[in-house]
Amino acid sequence: MALLEARNLVKTYTVDHRAITVLENVSLSAEKGEFIVIAGSSGSGKTTLLTLLSGLDHPTSGQIFIDEREITHASEEDLAPLRNRTIGFVFQSFHLVPSMTARENIMFPAELSGDRDADGRAGQLLARVGLSARADNLPSQLSGGEKQRIALCRAMINRPKLLFADEPTGNLDSENGKIVLAQLIELKNEHGATLVLVTHNPEIARAADRVISLKDGHLTG
Ligand SMILES: Nc1ncnc2c1ncn2[C@@H]1O[C@H](COP(=O)(O)OP(=O)(O)OP(=O)(O)O)[C@@H](O)[C@H]1O
Ligand SMILES: [Mg+2]
Repeated sequence: MALLEARNLVKTYTVDHRAITVLENVSLSAEKGEFIVIAGSSGSGKTTLLTLLSGLDHPTSGQIFIDEREITHASEEDLAPLRNRTIGFVFQSFHLVPSMTARENIMFPAELSGDRDADGRAGQLLARVGLSARADNLPSQLSGGEKQRIALCRAMINRPKLLFADEPTGNLDSENGKIVLAQLIELKNEHGATLVLVTHNPEIARAADRVISLKDGHLTG
């Protein structure tokens, strides 16, 4: 079985008693180490799909398997360690904790999972992305590109098998976007992780092993 497998996903949102079906019937699978880009116009359901695949929300119907485990109906209690250890997530708007330093943000998921070497690991990752000198800065004292490189370290600290990124360079200029993408791919390759990345950027899509597009609730490509 593939590392990530989604079968016949349907997602319907209800707003003011009206049902909107965003994903009609989406199936996909990603192998270990694969880099998949999900493209599609604004509102086509890319973020919705990532939240389902990463267990942040439940599908209306269909099934999701990660590392041979079905997560579709998993309880919050079962999902928490999966989200923390097996999955890494990088968001467009960084989502760093404002009151924690760069190092503390990176260490946080490792501390949650009881890793005694969280500090050492965070130091290695900071060096890896060239930000050792910024370790004690708060997010407000970092540039956008630096914030995203810290968020990338945080996503990688527990050596996830599966990395999701939702427009990770969407808030960055092209130069910083290139640095973040290069570091994301390097870290992914070093760890043999699978990367599922949402982007509008054709240049990023060219770096992927496979590009799939969402349109009218279905995947093509
Ligand atoms: N929690 C929600 N409740 C109701 N409708 C939602 C919810 N989340 C998303 N939607 C709707 O689902 C559709 C898809 O949204 P989604 O955020 O997945 O799109 P997207 O492809 O990520 O778009 P973008 O490229 O702009 O980020 C949109 O029409 C949106 O309004
Ligand atoms: Mg989105």
